[in-house]
Amino acid sequence: MQAREITTGVSYVGAIDWDRRLFDSLIPLPDGTSYNAYFIKGKEKTALIDTVDPTKGNVLEENLKKLDVKTIDYVITHHAEQDHSGTLPRILEKYPKARVVCTHRCQELLINLLAISEDRIVTVDDKESISLGGKTLEFIHFPWVHWPETMLSYLKEDKILFPCDLFGAHLATSDLYVTDEGQAYESAKRYYAEIMMPFRTNIQKSWNKLDEYPIDIIAPSHGPLHKKPELIMGAYKDWVFSEPKNTVVLPYISMHGSTRLMVDHLVGALIDKGVTVKQFDLTVTDIGKLAMELVDAATIVLGVPTVLAGAHPNVVYAAFLANALRPKAKFAAIIGSYGWGGKTVEQLTGLIPNLKVEVLGTVLSQGLPREADYKALDELADTIARKHKESGIK
Ligand code: FEO
Repeated sequence: MQAREITTGVSYVGAIDWDRRLFDSLIPLPDGTSYNAYFIKGKEKTALIDTVDPTKGNVLEENLKKLDVKTIDYVITHHAEQDHSGTLPRILEKYPKARVVCTHRCQELLINLLAISEDRIVTVDDKESISLGGKTLEFIHFPWVHWPETMLSYLKEDKILFPCDLFGAHLATSDLYVTDEGQAYESAKRYYAEIMMPFRTNIQKSWNKLDEYPIDIIAPSHGPLHKKPELIMGAYKDWVFSEPKNTVVLPYISMHGSTRLMVDHLVGALIDKGVTVKQFDLTVTDIGKLAMELVDAATIVLGVPTVLAGAHPNVVYAAFLANALRPKAKFAAIIGSYGWGGKTVEQLTGLIPNLKVEVLGTVLSQGLPREADYKALDELADTIARKHKESGIK
């Protein structure tokens, strides 16, 4: 993206990555992403807010050149992950007076991950501020969004919050600000599910810190900026604090059709009872879509055939991922099929210790499901609908 002015003395200097399709060699990026960096020019000093992924260092340097930036006094480093800090060594070399400003915990990470020299780093406490001359940056420690060292910054005079990964979206767009609110919501939810959901309780703990800051603009480290902060903050409040919804997420695999018959029957029975279902065939599923649906679901049902004496590896992966993402689901169940035996159920239940769920049942058919299996699935649908109702889930 071209350098662009946000408010007087505050410019966007980051980079769009239209072509990136995988983050952390794990997370699908169907819409690319951006690495947002910002330059602030005060009357006396200047600050660069974060850098960019090292693959886009040339874009950041070009943007600074277009703004005729001769001196950088501070590089505010909210987070040590390389998509924001990876160009730090290059910037520090080019601007020899610049000092990195970060949390104490971030200092250690920058030294270990990027070999930044300790004498180039200044650490700041929670709520400490620095003045650039008519531009005051206050730092807000906000651990675990997304690593333990993370902080946010607030530019007082312009009422701009720079929340780093928090409120971000993996979305490559030439729009500086959100224009399509539906698309922005979808991208932000996917981002929350994949990056922030595991740290939901940490976000809850720090959330009230934001109350004291009147915010006109949210300028995150990924995706477009928000001129209507209430939209993204309202969405986060729902994802982070609200009770789960009357929804079942059902990732499944079927090898020869038996598990598929079970899945189809259960899904039909749940729909009859007014429960929303999100069904995912794991042979073709975009894992990010599955993660998004886990944000709100009250129940997770795994549909699994037995292979090589255990759960199908794709379902093992889905269970492992769900456990790592720590969604707020309250209930779980396992359905599926087997030929002659195996440890499928024990294996899967052992994979989800982080999920604070009540296991509502297991229905496994030997080969093709029969009448008794379908009856058991009907009962499972009854139990799920009843449990949702009893828990006040709407
Ligand atoms: Fe965008 Fe956690 O880095």
